[in-house]
Amino acid sequence: MPDAVTKRAGTGELSPASPVDWWALFADPDFLKSPYKELKRIRDLAPVHYDAVSGVYFALSHDVFRRLAMAPEMGRDTRLWTAGWNSPRNRDEDPLSYELFSAFQPQMTNANPPDHRRMRDVYEKAFRQTDLEAYMPMIEAECGRLINGLPTDAPVDFMEAVANPLARSIARIVFQVPPEMEEQVAEWVAALSLIGNIMMSPAEKQNALTALRAFKAYLRERIASGIDRPGEGFVGLALAAFADRTMDEEESLNNLVTLMAGGTAIATLVGNGLLTLIRHPAQFEKLRSDRSLLRPAIEEMLRFEPGGSFIIRVAIRDFQCGGILISAGSLAVGLVAATSRDPECFADPDVFDIARQPNPHMVFGVGPHICIGKALVRMTAGAAFTALMNRFGRIELAGEPVWWTHRSDQHGLHSLPLRLGNGT
Ligand code: HEM
Repeated sequence: MPDAVTKRAGTGELSPASPVDWWALFADPDFLKSPYKELKRIRDLAPVHYDAVSGVYFALSHDVFRRLAMAPEMGRDTRLWTAGWNSPRNRDEDPLSYELFSAFQPQMTNANPPDHRRMRDVYEKAFRQTDLEAYMPMIEAECGRLINGLPTDAPVDFMEAVANPLARSIARIVFQVPPEMEEQVAEWVAALSLIGNIMMSPAEKQNALTALRAFKAYLRERIASGIDRPGEGFVGLALAAFADRTMDEEESLNNLVTLMAGGTAIATLVGNGLLTLIRHPAQFEKLRSDRSLLRPAIEEMLRFEPGGSFIIRVAIRDFQCGGILISAGSLAVGLVAATSRDPECFADPDVFDIARQPNPHMVFGVGPHICIGKALVRMTAGAAFTALMNRFGRIELAGEPVWWTHRSDQHGLHSLPLRLGNGT
């Protein structure tokens, strides 16, 4: 069947072409609202799919993606993706994408060894749980401020009232964004967050580029103002690393932008997590009566309804995986919602079990690039769910939640209407 087989240039190996129309799938609102059933069907066909249209590989099996993501042959430098936005080949074909992704390229997220470690070491120490504890009183106070004031006599949209403001507060508390800049930083972050959306429009790319330039100009000014002391706080760490030449200016600025933008993902975790608890009342009750389950419950919320859809790698060299050859210069995408429900790894994967142990989901990624903010996320989500359960004995849906259907890289809620009450 010649149509189903694609000859990979330069390797002589054959990769069977996926029968799935991936790009139609990523635009399908029903899939974006709940991708699990369809991903199960596709994973049952094969653990890795090669999309002959785009040349992208999609990994759905937990084991295969884990091996692929950790392999030294697979990196994160998007300049090596031969068909990619900021590959030299794209400079003339799509100058806007080339400029946007080139301007945002120099940072740890997009770096291969040894540059990745050089940059990650600058921040890693500040993200240890013991160091983050210092922010906890402020994070808890913020959760209390947002949650304790919610009305009990009228429905409330949890995303608008709690989840989204909480994500913004993290930028203020952890990265010391001054109150007068909060709104502006949130706007830049919103424009930049679309960068993960592989179906981003030219207008969105132009917006993101404008936001990136303005964000960097603000950080450059802030650094010059001397407010931040070298080595203290996240901006101070970047400053010290710039001063001692561990990182150059572009790397320092792009890393800070990504860190400040990372907080927004907290909104999807608390929103998706709360909806999942409400839809599983016995599990919610179990958590209320045994708060020691909060930590595994948050892991299960992450696994069951993950906010991020894709984890990417770019092949530095050819790599054989899951019966397929991933050729050098190709993009491989791990589909988080598929790996998180893989029955080879999770017993009864479609069951939401807050006591699930072990729970080796890869929602924060895996290997050297694993999310640097994961301890902060777990602590913040813990504070938010604790405040909610302390304040309200009754948390119910007041209408249909609305999922985002405008982007495939994030699975989050536009609105979550709730009715809250004191009693049980
Ligand atoms: C629920 C919330 C979050 C989720 C699900 C999440 C998920 C992820 C994932 C999947 C990766 C890529 C890992 C890989 O390639 O193997 C990542 C990397 C990263 N995340 Fe997060 N993240 C979250 C919150 C945050 C926060 C709050 C911050 C910062 C304050 C942050 C900063 C970063 C950075 C800087 C990287 C790149 C690390 C590297 O390349 O070494 N993330 N995250």
